[in-house]
Amino acid sequence: MRTKVVIIGGGPSGLLLSKLLSLEGIDNIVLEKQSREYVIGRVRAGVLENGTIEMLRLAGVSDRLEKEGFQHNGIFLSFRNHGFRIDLKGLTDKNVTVYGQTEITKDLYDSIEKENGIIINNAKDVLPHEINSKNPFVTFKKDGLEKKITCDFIAGCDGYYGISRSIIPKEVINTYERVYPFGWLGILSETPPVSEELIYANHGNGFALASMRNKNLSRYYIQTKLEDNIDNWSDIKFWEELKKRLPSNVADTIITGPSIEKSIAPLRSFVCEPMSWKKLYLVGDAAHIVPPTGAKGLNLAVSDVYYLYNAMKNFYLLDTTDDLKMYSTRALSRVWKSIRFSWWMTTTFHKFPEQSSFDQRIQDSELEYLENSIASQTVLSENYVGLPF
Ligand code: APR
Ligand code: PHB
Repeated sequence: MRTKVVIIGGGPSGLLLSKLLSLEGIDNIVLEKQSREYVIGRVRAGVLENGTIEMLRLAGVSDRLEKEGFQHNGIFLSFRNHGFRIDLKGLTDKNVTVYGQTEITKDLYDSIEKENGIIINNAKDVLPHEINSKNPFVTFKKDGLEKKITCDFIAGCDGYYGISRSIIPKEVINTYERVYPFGWLGILSETPPVSEELIYANHGNGFALASMRNKNLSRYYIQTKLEDNIDNWSDIKFWEELKKRLPSNVADTIITGPSIEKSIAPLRSFVCEPMSWKKLYLVGDAAHIVPPTGAKGLNLAVSDVYYLYNAMKNFYLLDTTDDLKMYSTRALSRVWKSIRFSWWMTTTFHKFPEQSSFDQRIQDSELEYLENSIASQTVLSENYVGLPF
């Protein structure tokens, strides 16, 4: 088999890249190790920057998002049992849209399948070869049979645990990492959200976040110990702890109910440099991870897709490799800014195990400054709604 671009990984990065390339007539094949049902069943964050929406529009997959997504013009921050609002729209003239990543993945799958794009699910033992040659190829197993696809380029869109990054020689690659000493316990519950806009809360017991998917589906998170077990968290215990961490006037109005999904996720910042090597280009979580506090993971994956899609388009349609050569530099420049913002949100809102009363005072003073300084609010807003591509 031959194609122009083999895309390893059918998460949001791989699917979006596939759809955009196909629209330009650039053949590609997506190899995804999991089943379709598994991929579209994963619960992930759901705050979209305007740039992300423009890319989904360009890919022709924004119809449902535009009907069902919720535009948010602000967010609430809280500390010392008291909340204040950041007017994202007023400060930046931009807003964000709440629409689950799970839905985006579903929309992309549907659209690619409708247009006869090729996604090979349950592709096992996927392995790129001869990245340094004119004709790289990828081998994999499907239904027990060995397969091989030769191509011009390989896009590694296979997430943090994928195979692609490991193909880059150790002497070429540099990695940067911070592992945070806590996790997020998240639940989905078929209850009306407690607030029309998201609430990020700093509390002595740890961080909490009130988010949502729609008018009758709430998403809440609380910071937990990294080694904590989901079995220690009954729904009742979760709601009690969440209520403690939100301002009491908000907590008093929470409508609780059974959780329909409950999981604990670790938090990490990670960057791999460079993001390309020879004919291999890393995209999204394969190259970088952010803690979810700034809601940047998906948006960052989409900006990588923007740079790579344009570079490949210019290669095939204008016969220039200039943008492919610049891919890693351009993508990383934006990646590091999001890494910094997500790290800042994380360190400002979470309780660290070794945190002293001095550290707590610094956090309080940071938030007090934010509450009273339009300049500081503008910095936060500009980053939260998304820096330009
Ligand atoms: N072969 C084929 N597919 C693989 C392999 C492999 N060896 N390893 C992983 N995959 C698949 C995974 O099953 C997954 O579907 O690659 C896909 C990677 O998807 P994501 O992890 O969702 O990464 P990405 O598409 O870059 O999306 C980034 O998703 O995880 C969130 O926070 C992240 O929101 C961000 C966004
Ligand atoms: C979510 O709704 O899942 C969500 C929202 C905002 C975040 C992280 C997660 O910062």
